[in-house]
Amino acid sequence: MIQKPKGCNDIYGKEAKIWKYVESVIDATMEKYNYNYIRTPIFESTELFHRGIGESTDIVTKETYDFVDRGGRNMTLRPEGTAGVCRSYVENKMYGDPNQPVKVYYNGTMYRYERPQSGRDRELTQFGMEVLGSDDPMSDAEVISLAVNIYKMLGLKEIKVNINTLGDKESRDMYRKALIDYFKPHISELCEDCQTRLEKNPLRILDCKVDCDNELLKNAPKTIDYLNDESKKRFEAVKDYLDILQIKYEVNPNIVRGLDYYNHTVFEIEAKVEGFGSNNVLGGGGRYNQLCSEIGGPETPCIGFASGIGRLVKALELEEVNLPITEDIDLFLMYVNEDEKKYALYLAQELRMAGFIVDTEYTGRGLKGQFKQADRLKAKYVAVLNSEDLNNNEIKIKNNKTKEEEIISLDVLIYYLDEQLNTGFEDINEEMLEDDCCGGEGHCKHGGECHCHHHE
Ligand code: HAM
Repeated sequence: MIQKPKGCNDIYGKEAKIWKYVESVIDATMEKYNYNYIRTPIFESTELFHRGIGESTDIVTKETYDFVDRGGRNMTLRPEGTAGVCRSYVENKMYGDPNQPVKVYYNGTMYRYERPQSGRDRELTQFGMEVLGSDDPMSDAEVISLAVNIYKMLGLKEIKVNINTLGDKESRDMYRKALIDYFKPHISELCEDCQTRLEKNPLRILDCKVDCDNELLKNAPKTIDYLNDESKKRFEAVKDYLDILQIKYEVNPNIVRGLDYYNHTVFEIEAKVEGFGSNNVLGGGGRYNQLCSEIGGPETPCIGFASGIGRLVKALELEEVNLPITEDIDLFLMYVNEDEKKYALYLAQELRMAGFIVDTEYTGRGLKGQFKQADRLKAKYVAVLNSEDLNNNEIKIKNNKTKEEEIISLDVLIYYLDEQLNTGFEDINEEMLEDDCCGGEGHCKHGGECHCHHHE
């Protein structure tokens, strides 16, 4: 049997419904903050990620899915969304739009060739947002609060925000030197990769997955002790704005993030739910003021965040958050003969277009089997279409819970279902009703019997 590739997932059934719900909350919240949806390619030129994320990061050295396309070009499946968004900002000259900053969000699959384990996949889905063109510490605080508020809107309670700052270039250079001085005498205690990282990019030693339990790493100098006044002031401002937004956070000097593009604010949001395991970081982000210029655009101060949807769904499950997922349907239409079947097909379409969740029989089951199927689908109402009733313009409809049955005119079926199910049909379709309206005078515009709200 052909199996899915390692580290990939099939999402279906109830889990897929949870994903769709999570995505709908993300969309709605991003919209409130006036972030616009952006879609960029799933693969980009390899160079973008090398330049953007950093040659010596784990992601670029060990985790990218690289391929040469049929035209001989080096391509890479995107391991994250930020580099592609910046490429798009620069290539489409969005920086020239007076409407700055550009605030965008995305939701899509990313690819990282990691060792698969719980919470660490090779194909992962991230949602994220980027603010391009603002250096104001207020935008740092707002991005952090937007991330937190998405989790809150979904009902997650047990989260923790960790923030830190890497400072500006001057502070980072001082810190880099301090790290080299600190690690140099202990070089033989580091893994092979870290030994080469020492001169090239000592910051990357701090997020090494091999050396992570080494005491040497834990006692290494902290960024926060090497900040110049400007960077300190900026960090204080971010914290002030977070306080105004009443976002609780902890300053964690160990957060350095695994990508090279960051400066100033960096942050991660953890799930504090029991049973999550070590991959409990729901999302992370930070400021990256050099990335756009690194890839050939103008200097553009930016801040962003991304979060794995798989980990988020797991956190919701572990916290047993009650989500408004509909697993039932409004009505199941049953039939016996071909004429009734045709009417079921037609009626299902009418009712679906009026806003109800309707299903019918597709596999030739007998009536008994259809009743069972209605139960499996958790149908709130069932109706057995019967030629005689239909000829009388009637339908027998049964509440599948109370088993109460009623014969009603087909003309009022929509209103009947709306009343029983309380779907708010009249509100949603007010315009349509107005259109069908006789204006209270009894003459339907469409020549038939009037179904408007004047004549219910
Ligand atoms: P990142 O920390 O590499 O940041 O990834 C963000 C989130 O994506 C992680 O916290 C995690 O939830 C999820 N994630 C990452 N790798 C995996 C994996 N292998 N399996 C499952 N989930 C995973 C970034 O990607 C940056 N682009 C964030 C950013 C946006 N910074 C500025 N703007």
